[in-house]
Amino acid sequence: MSNTQIIILDYGSQYTQLLARRIRDLNVYTEVVDHNIKATDIQKYKNIKGIILSGGPSSVYEFESYDIDVDIFKLGIPILGVCYGMQLIAKKFGGVVELANNQEFGKSTLVIENTECVLFKDLKESQVWMSHADHIVKMPENFTIVGKSENSIAAIENKNLKIYGIQFHAEVTHSLCGETIISNFLFNVCDCQKDWTMTKFISSSLTEIKSIIKDEKVILGLSGGVDSSVCAALLSKSIGKNLTCIFVDTGLLRKDEAKKVMQNYSKFEMNIKLVDASSIFFEALKGVKDPEQKRKIIGSKFIEIFNEESIKLEGVKFLAQGTIYPDVIESSSDGHTSKTIKSHHNVGGLPKEINFKLIEPIRTLFKDEVRRVGRELGLEDSILNRHPFPGPGLGIRIIGEVSKEKADILREVDDIFIEKLIEKKLYNKVSQAFATILPVKTVGVMGDNRTYEYLVALRSVNTIDFMTASASELPWEFLNEVTNEIINKVKGVNRVVYDITSKPPGTIEWE
Ligand code: XMP
Repeated sequence: MSNTQIIILDYGSQYTQLLARRIRDLNVYTEVVDHNIKATDIQKYKNIKGIILSGGPSSVYEFESYDIDVDIFKLGIPILGVCYGMQLIAKKFGGVVELANNQEFGKSTLVIENTECVLFKDLKESQVWMSHADHIVKMPENFTIVGKSENSIAAIENKNLKIYGIQFHAEVTHSLCGETIISNFLFNVCDCQKDWTMTKFISSSLTEIKSIIKDEKVILGLSGGVDSSVCAALLSKSIGKNLTCIFVDTGLLRKDEAKKVMQNYSKFEMNIKLVDASSIFFEALKGVKDPEQKRKIIGSKFIEIFNEESIKLEGVKFLAQGTIYPDVIESSSDGHTSKTIKSHHNVGGLPKEINFKLIEPIRTLFKDEVRRVGRELGLEDSILNRHPFPGPGLGIRIIGEVSKEKADILREVDDIFIEKLIEKKLYNKVSQAFATILPVKTVGVMGDNRTYEYLVALRSVNTIDFMTASASELPWEFLNEVTNEIINKVKGVNRVVYDITSKPPGTIEWE
């Protein structure tokens, strides 16, 4: 992109995306690229002001460790190496990196030895976050030590070449001076401009979308989630009625979901088609108990229905998708650098066989940027702050065989739980909350009567990346209130449990 000022070469650190987000928060547009990028490809960017080499899990002295095209050092562009990135710089300039006796993981104290170094302007001593087993034992040529931690060389500089290295992770908040260091690199070393704002993104996107689509028609599968909603709002603002959104009611949605989606979008200029396909989904799921099989059936039925609807609309040339930047980074990595990739296929993942041109208006944005764009476009907080909802919906929250009866019960239970979280101002404090219905009936007593009804489980987790999670410590009083309301109001349920399993070993969903 023409406004990319910083590129980050990805060496596989779990913090690479965080680093990119920190830079964007400072209003500088950055992209994450594969570490194999060639110097000649970097030159193709029009406006590059700095290069960052990320951290990574390997060691530079290992056979076939991730490398760098050394011509990148000759481009005259300032470089900052973080952790593995610093060790790679050291190795390439004749230094030696070895496994340390005293490895540093977690909080450490950085002491600046050269306060003249522009990267550490206004800093002397600070808490930083270390995560390394290796350290520099022989300094690279023409580099000087700028800072040390208790056990290692923590920062190096080659002032003439404007190449810097830091052993700690400036991007994590535990590095208290992290933002200052990143900001010093961007603005005092690289002379970056602060030109990345969501207002600018929106205005340039609107023009770009219009110039690509012209007067053609676009179709979009709306899920009610944040990404497809923001994508729809952006397209609507640019091309109005040439956008048709298709919303498929699978029968496996939350209570009143279809009604709410139709209401929320009535203020946008676009066409929305609501397709009630619930009976098709229940029919297809009859007798099926295996979770993966259910996922496959729901996914393929969805595509089938979306296909049929798109054929009915004449003259559609483009298919829009709400792909966002983390999806792009994860799917473009070469399999070595990649972090854990979700195996779930999303119901939003649409037909490949249809002959549409693809348009992905928010593919450069991180989730928090998507939310900010949505807010500027007038989407409600209730859409923008929603917890994730899996593509197969209630299909994987009804354990075992799916039926309309169970889906209706679960919808009521889920609604009571979620509404109570909102009422008690807990909804935004947890990452994802939902209910699951089990294929088990238990005995209870209500009044003078014995009951024999379904068991439901409530789950609420806190997580940053959904790869690991812990159960939310919801107040006992709250759980009590929700449980009473569920049992009193929802016919068919007589017992409620709260799931406190973390991930791992559990997963967030039960299936
Ligand atoms: P798990 O259960 O794997 O879930 O810990 C992690 C996150 O992914 C969501 N999830 C899915 N999303 N299709 C989706 O689009 C799926 O099949 C699927 N399965 C799980 C889950 O809700 C959580 O946010």
